[in-house]
Formats: sequence, C-alpha cells, structure tokens
Amino acid sequence: MKKITILDIQRMKDEGKKITMLTAYDYPLARLFDESGVEILLVGDSLGPVVAGYDNTLPVTVEELIYHTRAVVRGRENALVVADMPFMSYQVSIEDAKRNAGRVIKETGAEAVKLEGGQNMADTIRAITDIDIPVMAHIGLTPQSIHRMGGHRVQGREEKQREKLLADALAVQEAGAFSLVLEGIPTKLGEEITKKLTIPTIGIGAGIHCDGQVLVSHDLLGLFLGPRPSFVKAYCNLKETISGAVGKYLDEVRTGKFPDEEHSYR
Ligand code: KIV
Repeated sequence: MKKITILDIQRMKDEGKKITMLTAYDYPLARLFDESGVEILLVGDSLGPVVAGYDNTLPVTVEELIYHTRAVVRGRENALVVADMPFMSYQVSIEDAKRNAGRVIKETGAEAVKLEGGQNMADTIRAITDIDIPVMAHIGLTPQSIHRMGGHRVQGREEKQREKLLADALAVQEAGAFSLVLEGIPTKLGEEITKKLTIPTIGIGAGIHCDGQVLVSHDLLGLFLGPRPSFVKAYCNLKETISGAVGKYLDEVRTGKFPDEEHSYR
C-alpha cells in the first residue's frame, strides 16, 4: 500500500468508497492499525479521558498532543496522521492558531490538524489552510464545548440547530477544510450534510450515510473504562482479556509457578 494523502481521501469520496479512521495515541496500536489498512489515524484530544484519565478533553495541552502524535507517527507507514488541536490552542487568536498548528506539524510529522467549530472557526480554518496545513473540521457534538452543551448531548434535533449545522458544514468547506467530522447528530442530518458537501464527511454517532466512520479505538477494543455511548460498537473485550491475563500472572507468581524453567536463564 502507498502513503495516503488528503488527495486520496477526497478521491475516495468522489469514487463512493468508504473512508476508515481510528484514534491512536501510542506506537504499538498505531502500528497495528496501520498494518490493518486504516486510511486515517487521528491523534484525538480524546487522549485526555481515554489514556490520561482526565474527566474530559479540556485539560489536554499542546505538549501532550505532540508527545502522543510523535509516537503515532513512528508507528505508521501508510495512514494519514491527523493531530487534534487542544482546547485553547486555536481559539484565542488566528496568530496563535497558526503558530500552534505549525508547531504540531513541524514537531510531530503529522500531515493535518483537526479543530472543532463551524462558522465561528471559518476564518481560523482559512488562515491555517492558507499556510498549507490541511485542516479537518469537526461539528455537531463537539466535546470541547461540553459546558455550553450541558454535557455530551446529541445535536441538531431541533430545526434551528439543524439549519445552523448545515450552515456550519458549508462554512468550513468554503474556508478550505479537506474533510469534516460529524459527531452526535441524527442519521438524516448526517445524510443531508454529506450530500450537500463536496468534501468527505467522517461520522461518529452520525449514521450510516457519512463518507467515512471513526471510532475511539479503546471503545472499539472494549478497553475504555468510562460510560459507553450507544453508537459505539465494541468489536472485542480487551478489558476482560487483560484482567484475565493479569489475574493469571499474579496467581502464578504467588503460587511459585512463574518463572518456570522455560522462562529462566541457564
Ligand atoms: O478526540 C477525538 O477522538 C475525536 C474523535 C472522536 C472524532 O475528536
């Protein structure tokens, strides 16, 4: 397989091929996902709740994001790596947004950044794409807006919200975003936005009609310890596998079964 670029992602939409994206935060999982053939690895700020144990994504820093993205880049061969812009790394000013996006790209080797927001972020998206850094936009249930939304709530059910999200989607496309994450919106709205846009949409809790899908990898693997939203499908139960293996190890150490001959030096 060859290295995937944003042009391949656009081509997939144009040819009606589904795009796959997964979050990754470290070297071994990035390597396994890349070898499985996923097109996009997203180093999401979900690393806050998923691997750092924060309550939400808000405390994640640019430094933490850079550290994890560097590990992911070392593990991938073909996938496009997209790095999430942490809360307050792009909202204060366009200067700040360009500087932080540039830092992330320069210091990690990722090929694109992702940021949350629609019409309110159009100028920022335009400024970042103008310095040749591809931007993936993100609208709907945007976790960095948790306090405005009053929790992680489905967005776009009411007509006014629906119209706003349609306008947001068109605004980020017009501003130059190369793709758009749609999170936590009704299936019908996901379909409507996907049909209206020429850039690809990647859905998470946004129904079957999006051009691609993304899941938080720890959810897919059954490894996330928090509550699981209903749109998440766990494809295996690593929590159980890990607890079982660790329990067996503790038992074998305590009963003197490990290390045995085979696992000792002569
Ligand atoms: O941070 C993240 O993992 C994300 C995805 C859920 C889209 O933004």
